[in-house]
Amino acid sequence: MSVSAPVLIFDSGLGGLTIYDQVRQLMPQQPLAYLADDAGFPYGDLTEDACKARVVHVVSEAIARLRPALVIVACNTASTIALGALRASLGVPFVGTVPAVKPAAAASTTGLISVLGTPATISRDYTRELIAAHAASSDVTLVGASQLARLAERFLAEGNTDEAAVKAEIAPCFRQVGDRRTDCIALACTHYPLLLDVFQRVAPWPVTWIDPAPAVARRAQSLLGQGAVSPQNEKLMPFFLTSGDHPMAHLQNALAKRGLVTAEGLKIPFAG
Ligand code: DGL
Repeated sequence: MSVSAPVLIFDSGLGGLTIYDQVRQLMPQQPLAYLADDAGFPYGDLTEDACKARVVHVVSEAIARLRPALVIVACNTASTIALGALRASLGVPFVGTVPAVKPAAAASTTGLISVLGTPATISRDYTRELIAAHAASSDVTLVGASQLARLAERFLAEGNTDEAAVKAEIAPCFRQVGDRRTDCIALACTHYPLLLDVFQRVAPWPVTWIDPAPAVARRAQSLLGQGAVSPQNEKLMPFFLTSGDHPMAHLQNALAKRGLVTAEGLKIPFAG
């Protein structure tokens, strides 16, 4: 693999920036490209078949154009349904992002944990298999939040959010059983860490929020092995692509803060 080939970080929208930030921190000299499938957003509303087909299509197009060294699927909704198909059909190493059930179960002292994701991720067989394999002795509450990814996108663009709406979305995560209370919540959608400060403010009691981003970044680093390249090379500036016509003007602050340069999008229309 070429050391100057980029790592492609892919999400339906901007949630994958939470993974991007960790990758950047861990591998500051690694060329990066970020792709938001804004034409297909939100994946949480798609059927399993539609989501899988869309992800394979968009990632294939992106690989053809960018020739990445590695692809990080920075989206739980996509990873839990399409990782197998991506690995089987495309000859590039993939790192997925899946619900952090194992670390949540390991960190809990009360045995009451919650998994907060999109309704799609929460209903996946993949998620249930993770629970059976890694949290069989925990009492796990699955919470599908239908609005949180949208709220996180808006928060990133506008810097504020409807805190009452956020509170209502996370409320089912918090359970009390006798004298035990939920003490760990896995953030099973990459958009959610964008709202972490708000979650902490509106939560009925403090809990440990598990963000898989650092582990995903470490996994990518271990697969890449070496790969140090000169940061002076202009061509290696990280860049940001979209699949649709989404106007990015309102996001320039969030992107510029991360050194991401908006590049001409891939234009991959979504038939729905
Ligand atoms: N960021 C995606 C995830 O991690 C979800 C957002 C969407 O519904 O598209 O699941």
